[in-house]
Amino acid sequence: MDYLTFALAKGRLAEKAMELLEKIGISCDEMKEDSRKLIFTNEDIKCKFFLAKAQDVPTYVEHGAADIGIVGRDTLLEEHRNIYQVMDLKFGKCRFAVAGRPESKDMLNSNDLRVATKYLNIARDYYYNQKHQTVELIKLNGSVELAPIVGLSDVIVDIVETGSTLKANGLQIFDEICPISARLAVNRVSMKMKHDRITEIIKGLKTVGGE
Ligand code: PRP
Repeated sequence: MDYLTFALAKGRLAEKAMELLEKIGISCDEMKEDSRKLIFTNEDIKCKFFLAKAQDVPTYVEHGAADIGIVGRDTLLEEHRNIYQVMDLKFGKCRFAVAGRPESKDMLNSNDLRVATKYLNIARDYYYNQKHQTVELIKLNGSVELAPIVGLSDVIVDIVETGSTLKANGLQIFDEICPISARLAVNRVSMKMKHDRITEIIKGLKTVGGE
């Protein structure tokens, strides 16, 4: 039997993903050991697992290096990869929002609005296609909340989970763009070639909360 390979977004999502998979009998003891290994195998069930940076998970799945990916909807929306998004796993819940300092509220509809974000495609879609507003988009790689505080941007488009980062930095939400949660994504060829195994996993995940 061929291996079934899972690409998991490193960090909190991967831990929760493994907890969920364990409930349907897919586990990997090797992953629980503290090591610098990048890929882990469970020979008994012929599964491999690897951890990748979230933005790279859809790439591994699209190219077939992984049959299945578990990653946030935010990454899938941003990356636009040619893969099946088959299931909402209902964990890792947060949302995309527009936020800024309270005094920026008056300029939200301005065509000079400066928007800092890690998610250029999502911000572009929101402003250009939904709001029909021209804005200046500024790409950052992290700690986006800093941008309005130091005057780099007027607002940010970013993920909000508990809201504590915004609160701690005196920022408020002006608009909510869409909800986010972890998703199961599948390579298009794997879906055909390993159909029975993948369908069984999808069915199993539905019994433990996926949708
Ligand atoms: C994410 C996001 C916010 C924060 C939101 O950042 O970009 O900064 O979490 O969470 P909260 O609403 O619970 O405070 P992440 O921790 O991924 O780090 P980064 O800013 O370096 O990307």
